[in-house]
Amino acid sequence: MKRILLLSLALVSVIIISCNQSTKTKEMVKKDVFGTHNGKEVYLLTLTNKAGNVIRLTNFGAKINWIEVPDKNGKKDNITLGYDSFEETLKGDKYFGAVVGRFANRIANGKFTLDGVVYHTPLNDGPNTLHGGPLGWHSVVWNTEVVKDSKFPSVKFTYVSPDMEEGFPGKVDASVTYTWTDNNEIVMDYTCTTDKKTIVNITNHAYFNLHGAGNGDILDHVVTLKASAFTPVDSVMIPTGEIRQVAGTPFDFNTPHPIGERINDKYDQLKLGKGYDHNYILDNKEEVDVTVYEPVSGRMLEVLTDQPGMQFYTGNFLDGTQIGHGGKVYKYRSGMCLESGHYPDSPNHADFPTTVLNAGETLKSTTIYRFSVKSN
Ligand code: GLA
Repeated sequence: MKRILLLSLALVSVIIISCNQSTKTKEMVKKDVFGTHNGKEVYLLTLTNKAGNVIRLTNFGAKINWIEVPDKNGKKDNITLGYDSFEETLKGDKYFGAVVGRFANRIANGKFTLDGVVYHTPLNDGPNTLHGGPLGWHSVVWNTEVVKDSKFPSVKFTYVSPDMEEGFPGKVDASVTYTWTDNNEIVMDYTCTTDKKTIVNITNHAYFNLHGAGNGDILDHVVTLKASAFTPVDSVMIPTGEIRQVAGTPFDFNTPHPIGERINDKYDQLKLGKGYDHNYILDNKEEVDVTVYEPVSGRMLEVLTDQPGMQFYTGNFLDGTQIGHGGKVYKYRSGMCLESGHYPDSPNHADFPTTVLNAGETLKSTTIYRFSVKSN
C-alpha cells in the first residue's frame, strides 16, 4: 500500500514538473498558425524575453517579422520592416527579415565552377543570380522546433535543400536557431552540411529603422562600422576584384557618421550602388563589428559576427510601394540592412575567402543583433 502511495506521489510530481516546464516554454514562445504555403503550415512565433520585449518569427523564409524594443523613454515600437499577415508577406518584399541562401548576394552571370564542372543558377537580377535565385531559402517553408532546453526563448528552423535546387549541387541540411536573450539580443546560429561539394553563403536580411518601421528614413542613423576596406562593384553590382581602403572616402565609418552625411557625395561607388549597397571587409578585431545609433529615440543596434564580410545596404530600392505593419508605407531609404556573410560572387574570385562547403564538413556561424538605448 505504502509503495503504491509513494509511486503515485512520484507520478503526480513528474506530471506537475512537466506541466510547469511546458507552461514556461509556452510563455516564452507562442506558436500561432500564420497561413499555409505549398501544402505546409506556416507559423508566426512570438518570443517574449524576461525584459518583456517581443520578437516575432515565421518559418516561411525563416524570417524575422517583428522586433519590439523600447526607446530611451521606455516607449516600445517595432523596428524591423515586415507585414501583419501571411498573404502580405507572400506578396510583399521577398527579403524583409529573411534567411537568405544557398548563396546570399550575387553570383556573376549565374555561373560558377567546382572541380571543373560549370554550374548555372537562375538569373533574377539583370545578368546575375541574387540571393540564391528566385526560389531561394527566403521563399521556402522551414521546419519549426521550439527549443525546449534553452534558458531564453529560442526557435530552431531547419530546411533540407535538395541536390541541384536552384542549380546548386549537393543536398544541404541547413538550420538557423534564433535565441532572444533577456539582454535584447537576437542570436542567430547557423549550421549547414552537404553530401556533395557545394557553395554556401547564408545571411539574415532584416531591414532596420530605429525610429520604428515606417517612421521616416534612416539617413540620421549614426553608423560605426569596423572595416578598413570594402569591395567596389561594377555597373551590375559585381565586385571588380579591387580591395579598396575606406580611408579618405565616404565609405569610412570607422568613426561614427550619420548615413545621410555623405550618401549623395559624387563618388563612383555611391553612384554605382545608388547609395550604400556594398560588402565591407570586417577588421574582426573588436567584439562589436557595427553600431547603429538613432539620436531621436536613443535606440542602438550592435551587430556582432564571426563572418568575414558585411553588406551595408541603405534601402536604395525601397520606393513606397510596400505597405507594412499597421498600414505603414515603407518609403525610399526607410530601412537599412547589415547582412553578415561572405563577399559577393566569392565563387568567381579565387582570392576571396572561400565559400566552398565539402561533404563531411559543418558550416557553423553566429551573428548577433543586440538592441539597447543610450540617453544622450
Ligand atoms: C541586397 C542587395 C541589394 C538588393 C537587396 C534586396 O542587399 O545587395 O542590391 O538587391 O538585397 O532588395
